[in-house]
Amino acid sequence: MSSAWSGSASWSPSSWRDRPAGQQPEWPDEAALDRVLKQLATLPPLVFAGEARSLTSDLGRVAKGEAFLLQAGDCAESFDSFSANEIRDKLKVILQMAVVLTYSSGVPALKVGRIAGQFAKPRSQPTETIDGAELPAFRGHMVNDIAFTAAARTPDPERLLSVYHQSSATLNLLRAFTKGGFADLSRVHQWNQDFVASSNQGQRYEQVAGEIERALRFMKACGFDTESEPKLHEVDFYTSHEALILGYEEALTRKDTLTDDWYDCSAHLLWIGERTRQLDGAHLEFVRGIRNPLGVKLGPSSTADEALALCELLNPERIPGRLTLVTRMGAQNVRTALPPILQAVADEDHPVVWCCDPMHGNTFTSETGRKTRDFDVIIDEIAGFFAAHRDAGTWPGGVHVELTGDDVTECLGGAEALGHGDLDDRYETMCDPRLNGRQSLDLAFQVAELLRQG
Ligand code: PEP
Ligand code: CO
Repeated sequence: MSSAWSGSASWSPSSWRDRPAGQQPEWPDEAALDRVLKQLATLPPLVFAGEARSLTSDLGRVAKGEAFLLQAGDCAESFDSFSANEIRDKLKVILQMAVVLTYSSGVPALKVGRIAGQFAKPRSQPTETIDGAELPAFRGHMVNDIAFTAAARTPDPERLLSVYHQSSATLNLLRAFTKGGFADLSRVHQWNQDFVASSNQGQRYEQVAGEIERALRFMKACGFDTESEPKLHEVDFYTSHEALILGYEEALTRKDTLTDDWYDCSAHLLWIGERTRQLDGAHLEFVRGIRNPLGVKLGPSSTADEALALCELLNPERIPGRLTLVTRMGAQNVRTALPPILQAVADEDHPVVWCCDPMHGNTFTSETGRKTRDFDVIIDEIAGFFAAHRDAGTWPGGVHVELTGDDVTECLGGAEALGHGDLDDRYETMCDPRLNGRQSLDLAFQVAELLRQG
């Protein structure tokens, strides 16, 4: 296999350094940063290039309308709430959602976590002012800490190494869970956590789980060797995060010895956020040369021309699964802003995965001053996304959501009808409000219904 890949012409892992790079921290000590980046470059890759290729091929099936992408996880991972239970519970809820989607709609669900590397946040303002004191904004644990003190907010490059090691441990546990028996379909009941099981969605899930259990027993009784079928005992689970802090991503970018292509081995899929997707900017320059599958967020002001230019720049060879466009228009805009983009990309025959992020266009401040999102509005954006795709004849390929397995109170509404006054109870996110386990399952049932109708 040789690589004369056109996308890599005049590209190198550091060619982004000649372009304007938004959202980069002002590291106080360049020499210290340099030392850390050199060290990172010597550490083993977190993922293997062959896995990234498998994800591209799985996403290719999504692009063709044969599968559905579930991309989910934290807004920002934290150094403080790092534990086996937290990882396990997040995986449980994602596995539950995938089962609901697949069982109820008959469409296979491809599972990609916002996990094992999602530690850096773009900010709308570079600084934050409280009571007249101005400090650098919190940019995620990859950069600084959330406490409002000068020491905490000073960017510290040692954090890049901590991110590497926490990602490595997280990925290790995810691999153990997904390949070592925890994700076995015969354990489908055990993914239902107590606080979820007691809800309506939890009971509905129990029904689905019961039916799956009976189907497995039936297959066994018919003589199928269910024990030795790996697909029933293991799942493929991929990792993703926003490629924001480019020094870190560059340090983990390696040449694959099998193909001679470059891969960013910090995660399987990397995406570029709404704030850093400038066509001539450093972020797109960096990702155009790596062979991982890519995502790009598209907000409400995106134009059809921009979407086409992204397709041409990032996927000139039109490889299905190479590029996922994650639209986050806001429920109010999706029905008008999305159709012209879908049409333009379809007219040019670009094989993209269309994914709906119903979170980031629908954030507002609650009556009690909390950043929040309303469950019904989130569902409304997804419904608008499905409607736009039905009209355009394109495949509504997936959803991208911020969630946690924990029983938090960060988003309003849902079947438990969380109100403004409830948000203070267990508001634990370090950044954006996440769906809790019940709300996540509820969302999966509603998306499954939309898929069925389609
Ligand atoms: C995010 O995904 O956490 C994020 C910041 O999204 P966006 O770039 O769409 O605003
Ligand atoms: Co977010």
